[in-house]
Amino acid sequence: MKFGHFDDANREYVIETPRTPYPWINYLGTQGFFSLISNTAGGYSFYKDARLRRITRYRYNNVPIDMGGRYFYINDNGTIWNPGWSPVKTELDSYECRHGMGYTIITGKKNDLKAQVTFFVPQDYDGEVQQVVLTNEGSAPKTFKFWSFAEWCLWDAQDDCTNFQRNFSTGRVEIKDSTIYHKTEYRDRRNHFAFYSVNDKIDGYDTDRDTFIGLYNGFHNPQKVLDGTCGNSLADGWSPIASHYKEITLAAGESKTLVFVLGYVEMPVEQKFEADGKTINKEKALAMIEKYNTPEKFAAGMKELRAYWDKLLGILNVNTPEDKVNRMVNIWNQYQCMVTFNLSRSASYFESGIGRGMGFRDSNQDILGFVHQIPDRARERLIDIASTQLPDGGCYHQYQPLTKKGNADIGGDFSDDPLWMILSVSAYIKETGDWSILDAKVPYDNDESKAKSMLDHLTVSFYHIVNNLGPHGLPLAMRADWNDCINLSCFSDTPGESFQTYTNPKFKAEGGYSKVAESVFVAALFTYVGPNFVGILNHLGKVDEAAKAQEQIDKMKKVMMESAWDGNWFMRAYDAYGKKMGSKECEEGQIFIEPQGFAIMSDIDKDATKKTLAAIDERLNTKHGLVLNNPAFSKYYIEYGEISTYPGGYKENAGIFTHNNAWIICAAAYAGEGDQAFKYYSEIAPAYTEETSDLHKTEPYVYGQMIGGKDAGSDIGQTGKNFGQGKNSWLTGTAAWNMVAISQYILGIQPDFDGLKVDPSIPANWDGFTATRLFRGAKYNITIKNPSHVCKGVKSMVVDGAAVEGCVVPYVEGKKEVNVEITLG
Ligand code: BGC
Ligand code: NOJ
Repeated sequence: MKFGHFDDANREYVIETPRTPYPWINYLGTQGFFSLISNTAGGYSFYKDARLRRITRYRYNNVPIDMGGRYFYINDNGTIWNPGWSPVKTELDSYECRHGMGYTIITGKKNDLKAQVTFFVPQDYDGEVQQVVLTNEGSAPKTFKFWSFAEWCLWDAQDDCTNFQRNFSTGRVEIKDSTIYHKTEYRDRRNHFAFYSVNDKIDGYDTDRDTFIGLYNGFHNPQKVLDGTCGNSLADGWSPIASHYKEITLAAGESKTLVFVLGYVEMPVEQKFEADGKTINKEKALAMIEKYNTPEKFAAGMKELRAYWDKLLGILNVNTPEDKVNRMVNIWNQYQCMVTFNLSRSASYFESGIGRGMGFRDSNQDILGFVHQIPDRARERLIDIASTQLPDGGCYHQYQPLTKKGNADIGGDFSDDPLWMILSVSAYIKETGDWSILDAKVPYDNDESKAKSMLDHLTVSFYHIVNNLGPHGLPLAMRADWNDCINLSCFSDTPGESFQTYTNPKFKAEGGYSKVAESVFVAALFTYVGPNFVGILNHLGKVDEAAKAQEQIDKMKKVMMESAWDGNWFMRAYDAYGKKMGSKECEEGQIFIEPQGFAIMSDIDKDATKKTLAAIDERLNTKHGLVLNNPAFSKYYIEYGEISTYPGGYKENAGIFTHNNAWIICAAAYAGEGDQAFKYYSEIAPAYTEETSDLHKTEPYVYGQMIGGKDAGSDIGQTGKNFGQGKNSWLTGTAAWNMVAISQYILGIQPDFDGLKVDPSIPANWDGFTATRLFRGAKYNITIKNPSHVCKGVKSMVVDGAAVEGCVVPYVEGKKEVNVEITLG
């Protein structure tokens, strides 16, 4: 069942009912100010860091779901409603929500009154702008009452939801004209405040939550809205809010437009106050308000936003025989990549904004799907990430976006982390040809005095693996590798111990993790990523160093075949007892997805590739995607850790973990199996789940981290329950990796060090496709013809009329347009 439809021309998903199977959200903002907004206007805003600088409050895991948002209330002669249906939930005569690129438009209609609200965060602007257009579509005049509503968060989201003994006494506001200022803690240590304004005279306001809502009421029936009035309340401690109140009369056919700004301002310490030393200096806030105080200015801002996305999405555009592929590649997958680039795994409807900042491995991978959009921002991010690295190549696993400092609570020793940086820096160079990044001086451990070149960072990353090998010569697994839930040194038997941070005393003396447990995944990642490092060294003329690194890669490949090949697929690990994990010898968890794709793409062994692809298809594939492991674990294995704490079919225990599905899609395409690659792609690509949204639950326009696997429900005698059900939408490495999988491996348009490589691996029944790609200042017009209906194989390539050997279009400086025609065969 569908709950809306794609409007590709406008690049929108149009939701036709407020009762979606889960709140379907969008993100506003791409720079410093961000808002999450659901299809019923739930969600919240923050500045840079969803934990440390939360501006409005949200109630996670609430009953009913999705509580907290920017709400507009209408009391039309006793009929109370919201344009977005929630939280009052009065049945509307019509409802529509359009989630677009950086904006959301919600339109509700009741009793001939139409309310259309458009939300967006303008470029270079720290605020959410909201335009409300109220239209009387009836034939008689209408008088009604109108309220806005936002609830302030007291800045630190963690503290805000725990430290009530203090917080209930700190809330402070100021009101001037039609603007309500949130200045909690501004008197002392904070140099920032927020405000909520409207471009019209108001008839009153409320800033004290209990006055507006009533202690025993809810968002669905605020007392003042019921009463049709306002309290002009001044918050003093407790919970400060911002609500504007207006009485409005509209003649038949008449419209009224209001523009609201929910903004955030930072002030230099010496300019915080007016002369009296306590009134907020509002200069900056007023300038922000002024910028969007008319519908014309609002429209201009929206136009700018559209132009911004036209430009970004104009970089890669494809026209394939599949509408759903075009929709994913040209619009939604790229859009999601911007969101994951900005937010890593911090704030979504499944990530509280408190738990995690920017992940080292996560953000490096996010760059793979984003770098073509704004390479300069990718470069800045790479430097931020690398600055948290430790001198020996180890890494802080996360950092806070506001402080850009490594997060000591989580620490490091995740065995895969350093490798992802080699991959992301390589992707940046391949995209831009900007080799100078390697010379950039980048601190270690955020300490400028320890700064060395980015090349040095890549070198210590590479050798961090080489210097930490276990008994078989495979990389040590440490706390965990990419799979956070395979914790081979944890041996946790006490509730509450974090599988990611707890160190079992038996390994403390050894440095915090077993010196026996080894990861085949990290080995495969090493042999896949390593050649990029070698390529870089060769390009720099460091041939000896390149050869030395290559030797390590070759050695690892040998070890893989000697000690990690299980006969039909690659094993997963050796545990801390030195026992095989992910082998046919195991009782459960005999085959794991993670190492297979990277091993295949490392060209370790042709026969192994064939067997592995067959085993994946047989053991892991389902109609909803590839499960992570098989059989699922049905009991707790203390030596494996968190993976076996999940019931089978969910998350890392045999869930369909879409992130690593992409690696198999890449690998199948790489191996020439275009049909197999495309089958796996279309099993999980969101646009293909639209028809079954009732089962899939999460947004049909973005990837989620996980889809319930075939074993879901098996331990309660309901095998297949929730099979196909999506969870954890938006913030997942799946976005970047599937962007890579479809655009670089299936469609085969792949930036390389020396130019743009075009080597598709498509379904055999495609006649071909066309694409345009902006790359290093030139526009490539690409035509792929597939007259013999093969999956892969460039038979001929013609560049600007001349035949060129191979499939890399050589880069020619200064060229503005390049026509590439490829015939497969
Ligand atoms: C989840 C992982 C996640 C980790 C982060 C685990 O509970 O299953 O997907 O990466 O937490 O700490
Ligand atoms: C989600 C985490 O963000 C990511 O870092 C990890 O690789 C996967 N879960 C798998 O555990």
